[in-house]
Amino acid sequence: TAVKPYANEPFTDFGKQENIDAMQAAIAKVKSEFGRSYPLRVGGRKIETEAKITSINPGNVDEVIGFVSKASQEIAEEAMQAALLAFETWKKVPARERAEYLFKAASLMRERKHEFSALMLLESGKNYVEADVDTAEAIDFLEFYAREMIRLSTVNESQPLAKIPGEDNHLSYIPLGVGVIIPPWNFPLAICVGMTAAAVVSGNAVLLKPASTTPVIAHKFVALMEEVGLPAGVINYIPGSGAEVGDYLTTHPKTRFISFTGSKEVGLHINKLAADTVPGQIWIKRVIAEMGGKDGIVVDETADLDAAASAIVASAFGFQGQKCSAGSRAIIVESVYDEVAERVVKLTEQLRIGLPEHNFASGPVIDNVSYARILDYIEIGKAEGTLLTGGSKAEGNGYYIQPTVFGDVGGKARIMQEEIFGPVLALAKAKDWQDAIAMYNDTEFGLTGSYFSSDEDRIAEALDTVHCGNLYINRKCTGALVGVHPFGGFNMSGTDSKAGGHDYLLLFTQAKLMSRKA
Ligand code: SER
Repeated sequence: TAVKPYANEPFTDFGKQENIDAMQAAIAKVKSEFGRSYPLRVGGRKIETEAKITSINPGNVDEVIGFVSKASQEIAEEAMQAALLAFETWKKVPARERAEYLFKAASLMRERKHEFSALMLLESGKNYVEADVDTAEAIDFLEFYAREMIRLSTVNESQPLAKIPGEDNHLSYIPLGVGVIIPPWNFPLAICVGMTAAAVVSGNAVLLKPASTTPVIAHKFVALMEEVGLPAGVINYIPGSGAEVGDYLTTHPKTRFISFTGSKEVGLHINKLAADTVPGQIWIKRVIAEMGGKDGIVVDETADLDAAASAIVASAFGFQGQKCSAGSRAIIVESVYDEVAERVVKLTEQLRIGLPEHNFASGPVIDNVSYARILDYIEIGKAEGTLLTGGSKAEGNGYYIQPTVFGDVGGKARIMQEEIFGPVLALAKAKDWQDAIAMYNDTEFGLTGSYFSSDEDRIAEALDTVHCGNLYINRKCTGALVGVHPFGGFNMSGTDSKAGGHDYLLLFTQAKLMSRKA
């Protein structure tokens, strides 16, 4: 049967009371399940360990979302063996059949959308819209990569070969082997699903080590894949410590690839470990790393300043600035700087802070480590710029921090150069639009950026010279859509991969050319 053309999952309209009610009912249901234990899943076995990860609600730290079993190196080794075994049969399952598991999972996730969003909201501190968008993106990844695998496996669709007389030639994209998937906590469903589904639909078996702050939502996804009948051992769920389990698997001779999304520091660490060959290893490990950003919005004097200010605030403070795409810098041309800064401050001060389950615009940051780090950066900012609003922690039984804006920050300041991953925005003044673009480009990262202008010549120049993987004109720099805005950045932002793009599955496959004399 033909597959419907790909289309993005629509977002829920929370302007409608019925949708708010549905989300609240889902939140109540998730809360009634608080405090349960979640096992590891290794080759179809559920393993309970003594050691547990306690997943808490960052918005109300007295609430325990769940207790998740924790893998040791011994269990990681068992998981590797289970994955190696599963790979031998999974790689032979036709691409179309593999894709069907993703289609089924997408359809069940769509039916239970608010349940997924509610759990994510409570475990990660997203508000209704942010959680809903995350679930929609997860559904998109399933739908998109399923179609991509079908396309890649269709003769002449992926890469048409030139014909010569006397030969039949065919190129086939075969899987790599067993991969380690290390997703982040900030899109705890979407990115976890995207990274895992891409690897699996390509025919690989994986060891999924979810982020330690959001293991329960990852477990819900793994349970869903089991429910749709994915063969045992194709996805092995092994939460655990990075230093113990992550490093063990990264250096394992049977690991064929590592797909990581997270900080620059951890990404570089993985890349370094993976580069070493160990006895018994017969390949060069592939590392796919999506790392940080120091994303920014450039505003020139011809721009729609209201639109620019709204985009700056949305990009800086959506999910408390904890997106790799977050616009934590705004570089504004001198002549309109004061006006834009004033509007940004006004909009920022309208953001109400409170519990995600009550759908406040601003919620908590993820954990005590982030909380302390962000508050440190705020102190650094006080020395590097002028505090315009915010600047301290906020009320609540969780990790709440005021959305904070610093003005007149110099281009080389630490808060203009280092990824903070929190609700901290630096505003900088540029002499003119070219100076502004140069300041934007003066970073080791290159993930997302926006240019606000109404001047076509400048926009053309910006399209050429602003160096980042996802460049937006006259809109915010967050919120890439699967299939519409393939997502991933340059330089220290990662390995230049594009999640949600047509190239992505090539990272999880290798091409085999088969040539036969006619
Ligand atoms: N894809 C997300 C965004 O664009 C970030 O991971 O905001």
